[in-house]
Formats: sequence, structure tokens, C-alpha cells
Amino acid sequence: MKITVVGTGYVGLVTGACLAEVGNDVLCLDLDKAKIDKLHQGILPIYEPGLDEVVARNVAAGRLHFTTDIDRSVAHGTVQFIAVGTPPDEDGSADLQYVVAAARNIGQRMTDYKVVVDKSTVPVGTAEKVKAAIADEVAKRGLSLDFSVVSNPEFLKEGAAVEDFMRPDRIVIGAEDDQAIHTMRALYHPFQRNHDRTLVMDIRSAELTKYAANAMLATRISFMNELANLAEVLGADIELVRRGIGSDPRIGYSFLYSGCGYGGSCFPKDVKALQKTGEENGVPLRVLAAVEEANEAQKQRLIDKVVARFGDDLSGRRFAVWGLAFKPGTDDMREAPSLTLIDGLLARGATVCGFDPVANHEAHRVIGDRIDYAENPMDALGGADALLIVTEWKQFRAPDFDAIKLALKTPLIIDGRNLYEPAAVRAQGLEYDAIGRK
Ligand SMILES: NC(=O)c1ccc[n+]([C@@H]2O[C@H](COP(=O)([O-])OP(=O)(O)OC[C@H]3O[C@@H](n4cnc5c(N)ncnc54)[C@H](O)[C@@H]3O)[C@@H](O)[C@H]2O)c1
Repeated sequence: MKITVVGTGYVGLVTGACLAEVGNDVLCLDLDKAKIDKLHQGILPIYEPGLDEVVARNVAAGRLHFTTDIDRSVAHGTVQFIAVGTPPDEDGSADLQYVVAAARNIGQRMTDYKVVVDKSTVPVGTAEKVKAAIADEVAKRGLSLDFSVVSNPEFLKEGAAVEDFMRPDRIVIGAEDDQAIHTMRALYHPFQRNHDRTLVMDIRSAELTKYAANAMLATRISFMNELANLAEVLGADIELVRRGIGSDPRIGYSFLYSGCGYGGSCFPKDVKALQKTGEENGVPLRVLAAVEEANEAQKQRLIDKVVARFGDDLSGRRFAVWGLAFKPGTDDMREAPSLTLIDGLLARGATVCGFDPVANHEAHRVIGDRIDYAENPMDALGGADALLIVTEWKQFRAPDFDAIKLALKTPLIIDGRNLYEPAAVRAQGLEYDAIGRK
């Protein structure tokens, strides 16, 4: 199939590359010339495990192309995926300007039937707006052209995006006409040869499904974080509680880890946008308001622990921060809990040395020279009053505790991701403070 993907970010690039991988002829459009120039030079603008190989293979095979030329992109694909950003507006609602602009671009240029697919995370009713925008542009040209609009929300996880796209749990397709449903089924057939995992539904339900999924996951995290805080005060251990409830099949083990809060480009903005949708429709989503409030407080937990240990004036103190990206496996710094921690430390007069296995560069773009950056985890520790762990990268799981103890000025680890067994760390002569651990 000839496919255009509009927006070549985390979702668009993975979508384009994986659709090319199964044999489609894919053209990825982005208006960011620097991004497309990089891709033409074989450099990926983002870090995503395994993606470089898929992109390189499909570019070499002539199935994957990149462009900034909208005329070319509209002419290319019968299927036009819209995978542009939907950042939060000032009032928390999803800003649809990029989605609508992409739709108008299509309406201004199309000359034959297109299936336009909303892959961006968009509020209920957006497909209708996309349809209206395209119809409006087509009408302005004095034409009458047939097209379908489909909602196909994306569930990939950054850090495992290629794997998730190639082996999806489910493919949600919101569509109202048979031609579009048939096209979407054919497109996704190669990704589900084992058994069909397509869920075809009406468009509004598909749009809501994506928000419901992220809101539910965020809810589990905030729930566990609040329980962890309570466990700490009560002298209970959240890790034992997690196992105790996860073993119930109605609850399950996934997404029950407490920590220093969620971040990223999806949960924070999607929780806010869904709340806004509720508000606009006279249905307050009280649980989600609490989920967000709990998360904001949780992002302060590490700084609270530092202040409890060293006092509010941190001038002259230095802290090592392991993990800057909002989660392991990505260089994405959007809404990363590390940013809240670092701001809190710097505001109190401390200096910081950060280390991240892949996000140092992106962190420098966001934080600049306000902190130092280490090339490896041990280099971050020199002369630091404590090691603060923010992102649970695998390489932090079994460190050399003796070396950590020697490098730190105070032998203290404050662990925002509960990576270690407290007794084992303490047996090595280190102080250890985690989230909800005994
Ligand atoms: N990142 C994730 O893990 C993830 C997962 C599922 C869904 N989503 C959703 O997918 C959407 C995209 O997210 P992302 O993280 O890939 O965003 P991103 O910011 O990484 O990428 C968006 C890209 O779209 C480009 N763009 C904007 N307007 C354009 C236009 N009119 N024409 C062409 N290109 C244009 C931007 O230059 C940018 O490169 C969002 O709605 C997001 O909520 C993201």
C-alpha cells in the first residue's frame, strides 16, 4: 500500500518504519526541516531501541522516504496517517492546531479517495473536526471528493515502540464505513498473523479508548505512590504490599510500582485533557483530578527527602542524579520527574551532576549548563552528598556499592525507583532511603 505519515516524531517515525518493514511504500512528512535533513543523512532525531536498524533497512530497500514537501506527501498515500503532536493548551485541553493544519493540507491538495487516519491522541469529536476541515478545503476548490476519516489511536510505549508496533496487544479502529475498515484491516493484517487483535468500533469510542487507557495506567501509579507514602509512615513495606495485591488476578502485577511520579509526553497531558473533556461535558472526573494532584506531589518526594536529611538550605552541597529521561529506554525529557528534582535542588543552592545513558544530550538541550553532565554513572558521584536515582535504567540495577560508597562524600542513596533491597544496600555500609520501603 502507498502510505503517508504526517509528523515524524516518536509515533510517526515508528509507524512509518514499521509499515515499510512489512512491505508498504511509505513517505514520512515533517515540517521540521532539521529533522528530515537528519533522516536523509541516516541520523535518527530520537532514541528508540531497534528503530535505527528498521529505518536503515527500509530506506535502503527503497520503501521508506522522508520529505518536507506537502504536495508530494498528499499525492503519495492512499492512506494518510496524522501523527502530529497534540500538546496541552493553556487550559489543559489538547491543542488540535497541528492536527487540523495537517487535515487542511490534505483537503487543499487531494485529487482522489483518501483514508485519513487520526493516530495522534485526540479528544472525542476530533475526527468530526478533521472531516469538516478536509471537506471545507475540498469545497473551496469547487470539488467533490470522497474520503474517509478513521480513528486509530496508538498504544506503543517509548522504549519498546518498535516491538509494540510489530506485536500489538490490540489495534483499535474507529470507523464508520466499510471501505475504510477494509483498508485498515488489510494494513494491520501483517502485524497479527497469530490471531486477529483488531477491535473495530465507532469513532467516538475509539477516541475515548486511548484516553481511558492512559488515565487508568496513571491512576494505578498514583494509587501506589500514595500507598507507598502511607506505608513509609506506618512502617510497612510497599514492595511486599505490591506482591500481596498483584497476586490477585483481578488486580495483576503490571503498573503497580511506586516511585517519584510519572512524566513523559502522554500521561500528564492526556490525564489533563480527559479531565477537560469531562468538565466541558458536565461530567467531573474527580478520580483523575486526584490522580494528577497526587502525581504533582510525588514528583516532589525526592526533594522532600533531601530537605528532610540536609535542611532547606543546600548551598555548598552537591548531588548526583542517575537517570534524566522520563523513563528508561528513551531520551524523551518531556515532563520528566528529574526536572522537578533538579529545579528543587538548584533553587536551594545545590549543584548537580546528572547522568543518563542516552538522554544527556536531550537533557542539556532542556536544562542547559545549569547542571554538570557525567559520561558514566560513577563519574557523576565524585564529591556528591548523595546519589539520587530518578530513572530505572537496567544498568543501575546492580552497581558496585563499594565504589559508590568510596566516591560519595556522604554514603547515601535516595532511590526514587526502588531498585534495591534496602537490607542488602545497608549491609554494604550505605544509607538507603527509597519510596515506601521499610
Ligand atoms: N510518544 C508516545 O509515546 C506516544 C504514544 C502514543 C500516542 N502518542 C500521541 O501521538 C502524537 C504524536 O506524539 P509524538 O510523541 O510522536 O510527538 P512528537 O512531538 O515527537 O512529533 C510530532 C511531529 O509532528 C510534526 N508536525 C507538526 N505539525 C505538522 C504538520 N502539519 N505536518 C507535518 N508534520 C507536522 C512535528 O514537527 C513533530 O516532528 C501525540 O498526539 C501523542 O499524544 C504518543
